[in-house]
Amino acid sequence: MKHKDLIKQMTLEEKASLMSGKDFWQTMDIERLGVKSMFLADGPHGIRKQAAAADHLGLNPSIPATCFPTAAAVANSWDVLLGEVMGYYLGREAVAQKVNVLLGPGINMKRNPLAGRNFEYLSEDPYLTGKLAAGMIRGIQANGISACVKHFAVNNQEERRMAIDTIVDERTLREVYLTAFEIAIKEGHTQTVMSSYNMLNGTYANENMHLMRDILRDEWNFDGVVVTDWGGSNDRVAGLLAGNELEMPTTADETNEEIIQAVKAGKIKEDVLDECVDRLLELSFTTGEVLKEPHQEIDIASHHEMAQRVSEESIVLLKNEGNILPLKKGVKVAVIGDFAKEARYQGAGSSNVNPTILSNTLESLEESGIVSIGYEQGFDRYGKKNKKKVDQACAIAKQANVVLLYIGLDEVTEAEGLDRQSMEIPENQVELLHALYEVNPNIVAVLSCGSVVEMPWIDKVKGLLHGYLSGQAGAKAILRILAGDVNPSGKLAETYPIRYEDTPSYYHFPGKEVSVEYREGPYIGYRYFDTANVNVLFPFGYGLSYTTFEYSNLQVNKNDVTFDLKNTGSMAGMEVAQLYVGCQSSDIFRPAKELKGFTKTNLQPGETKNITIPFDDKAFRYFNIKTNKWEIEEANYDILIAASSTDIRLRGTTFVEGTGAPLPYDKAALPSYYTGKVNDVSLTEFESLLGYKAPVAIWDRTKPLGYNDTIAQCQYAKGLFAKFSFHAISFAHWFLRKIGKRSTANLIMMSIYHMPFRGIARMTGGIINMPMLDGILMIVNGHFFKGLRHVLKERRKMLKVRKDKKLARVTEGM
Ligand code: BGC
Repeated sequence: MKHKDLIKQMTLEEKASLMSGKDFWQTMDIERLGVKSMFLADGPHGIRKQAAAADHLGLNPSIPATCFPTAAAVANSWDVLLGEVMGYYLGREAVAQKVNVLLGPGINMKRNPLAGRNFEYLSEDPYLTGKLAAGMIRGIQANGISACVKHFAVNNQEERRMAIDTIVDERTLREVYLTAFEIAIKEGHTQTVMSSYNMLNGTYANENMHLMRDILRDEWNFDGVVVTDWGGSNDRVAGLLAGNELEMPTTADETNEEIIQAVKAGKIKEDVLDECVDRLLELSFTTGEVLKEPHQEIDIASHHEMAQRVSEESIVLLKNEGNILPLKKGVKVAVIGDFAKEARYQGAGSSNVNPTILSNTLESLEESGIVSIGYEQGFDRYGKKNKKKVDQACAIAKQANVVLLYIGLDEVTEAEGLDRQSMEIPENQVELLHALYEVNPNIVAVLSCGSVVEMPWIDKVKGLLHGYLSGQAGAKAILRILAGDVNPSGKLAETYPIRYEDTPSYYHFPGKEVSVEYREGPYIGYRYFDTANVNVLFPFGYGLSYTTFEYSNLQVNKNDVTFDLKNTGSMAGMEVAQLYVGCQSSDIFRPAKELKGFTKTNLQPGETKNITIPFDDKAFRYFNIKTNKWEIEEANYDILIAASSTDIRLRGTTFVEGTGAPLPYDKAALPSYYTGKVNDVSLTEFESLLGYKAPVAIWDRTKPLGYNDTIAQCQYAKGLFAKFSFHAISFAHWFLRKIGKRSTANLIMMSIYHMPFRGIARMTGGIINMPMLDGILMIVNGHFFKGLRHVLKERRKMLKVRKDKKLARVTEGM
C-alpha cells in the first residue's frame, strides 16, 4: 500500500466516508488529514462540468467547453495519434475546469446498430476501439489528471440498462467485449474505470468477482480506481469486496454505514477497505497535483480549430458517382435541409456539451468558396410532413447545378437511455429526396447522425458524405471537404447492413425482460457478415478518397508484414491500410478474418511508402475455455492487407506454431458457430456454447417486486396504486409523444420507466433511503397502508439519525 501511514490515522468512519460521493460530482474530503475531494465530470467528447444544478442526463447547463466530434466520428479517423492529441486538448480543458477525472472514453462494442449510445462509442471492433481509446487516454492523462474508461462491461443496450442481465459465453466476452478494455488498461494505463449498470451472467458488473477481480485486477494488473456508473450500485458491500472503490453519486452516508457495519460484523476485512482507500487516495493525490497550479485560460479558438481537424479526418466519403465531389469551381449549389441551418453535431444525454463556438453551414459557405444560390429548409426536423417546404426546396433545386442536401437523425432519436426503434431516417426526408431527384438528379447528400442507418434511397444521390456527429466545428469541416480543400480520409468503424433484419443480433436485441442473450457469440459486425457471406451496404473499414491508392510487394515476416503503398492519383491524401488475420484451420470456430493492425499514411501524388504493420500479442490468439487462457492454434493463417474488410488488396499466408491447448469445443453441438450463420441460434445450441443453462429470460409475474425490479414491472404488480402509476406513466409517455414533446417523453423512459426501485434510493441523494424504499415496495406489492406507515416511520427515523449526527459533530468541534 502506498498510503499506509495516512490510512493508519483514519477512523473506520473516515475510511468508509471516502467510498461514496460527497455530492453528485465530487468525492469526499477529510480536511484534518489533507485529503481533498475530487471532481468527476463527463466526458467523453467535451467537458460537461455542471456548476449549478446537477444531473446525469445532460439536462442542466454546463460550463462552455469545446465539443469535439463524438466517438463514433473520431473512430472513422483510424488515427491513434489524432485521438491522443484530441485527448490532450480535452485534458487541458479538464484541468482548466479543475476536474480530476474525465468520464470517458466510452468503449462499449456496437453489438447492434440500434443501441442508443452507439454515437458515444467507437466501433464494432475491439482492436480498433482499444487502440483509439488507449491513445485518447494517454492524451487526457498527459495533463496529470485521470481518464475513466467506461462502461465496464457488456453494456450494449439502453433499454432496462440498470437491470438487464447480459448472458454471454466466456470466449465471446474475452475476445469481443473485453479486449478493448484490456488494451485501454494495459496500453492506455487509464487510472479509472467506470463499471456498467447491467449484470453480467447473473451478477451486477461492479460486484462481479470474475470481471472485477480475476480479470481486471489479477490478469490485467489494474491498480486504479473503479467507480460505479451514477446510481449503479446494488449491494455496496458486495461491490467493495469485488474492489469497487467509489460509488457515485452521494448516498448521504447510507451505504458508507453499510460498509462500517459489515466491517464491524466481520463480513468484510478492514484490509479490503484499506486497499480501496489506498487506491482512491493515490488517485486523489496524483490528479490533485496539477489542479493546485494557478488557473490557465483555454485558448478557445485553437481548441475549436483542433475540433475541426479531428472532424476533417473523421468524415467519410461513401459515394462519389462521376466524381461529383469535390465540387468544381463555380458550380451553383442549392443548399437544402434543416441540418444545414442548425447542425446536428452531438448526441443527447450525459455526454451533452455546451459548445464554446458553433460552426454553421450557411454562415461558413462564403468562406468555403462554394457558390450558393440559396437555402431552403426542405423538411421539418422532427418528422412532420410539409409539402410546402418540399415545393420550395424543389424550386431552388431546379435552378442549381448541384443540390447539397443535409439530412440525418434529430437529437431526440439518438439519446442515452433509449435505443432507436428503427434504422431508417425520417420518411419526410426521404420524400424530399425523391422529389428533388425528379427536378435535379445531381444530389450530394450530407448525412449527420451518430450511428448506422438504412439507405434504400442511395441510388438517388450521386455523392454521399457522412459527417457522423462531427462536433462544434463539423459544419465547416464538411464544407472544406465538399470544396476539395481537404481530401476525405475517414473509413467506417462499423458495418452498414442493407436492412436492419440482416443484423446478427436482430432477434436478440434488446433484452426486454430479465436478460439479453448474446446468441450470435463472437460474430458481431463484419465478423458476422464476412463469415456468413451476407451482403452489406458499406463494409467495415470502407471510405473513399479524392485520390487512389495502389498496394503492392507484400512480404510476410515472422513478426510483421510489410508492403508498398502508392498514391496513384493527382491529389495528396491519406489511406487507412488494414491488416486482417484469418485462420485456415476449422478445428476451432472463428470469424473468417479479424482486424489485427492498421496504419494511416499521408502520401503526395505519385509518392510510395513502404509500410510495416507488426504482429502483436493479439494477432493470433484466441481464448480457450478449457485452459481458461489465451492460446494460439497451430495452423496456417491468412494475412490480408485491405482497404476495407471486403476490399482485400494483398494476400499472404504464414504458419504459426501453437501452444498445444486441447480443442475447446464439440463441433457437432455448435453447427451455427462453425458456419458463422448465427442470426437465429437455438437456445439449446447457445447453451452448449455457454456450457450451462441460460437463466429464464422472462419475468416471473407471480413474485412480489423487489429492489432490482423496474418501475415498468408495476404493470403486473399486486398493488392497485402501482398499477395505476404504471398506466399514468405510460399514458404520459404516449401523450407527450403525440403532442410532439418527444424529448420529455424520452426522459420519462430514461429516468422513470426503466429505473429499478433501488435507483429511487441511489439517485435521490439521501431524500429516500433503503428502509423507506421497503415501504414503497410494500405499497407496490399491495400493502398500501402498511407501506405508507413504514415509509413515514423510516423517514422520521432517518431525519432523527441525521439530526443526532449533526449535533454530535457540532459538540465534537466545540
Ligand atoms: C452515464 C455515464 C455518465 C454518468 C454521469 C450515467 O447515466 O451512463 O456515462 O458518465 O451518468 O453523468
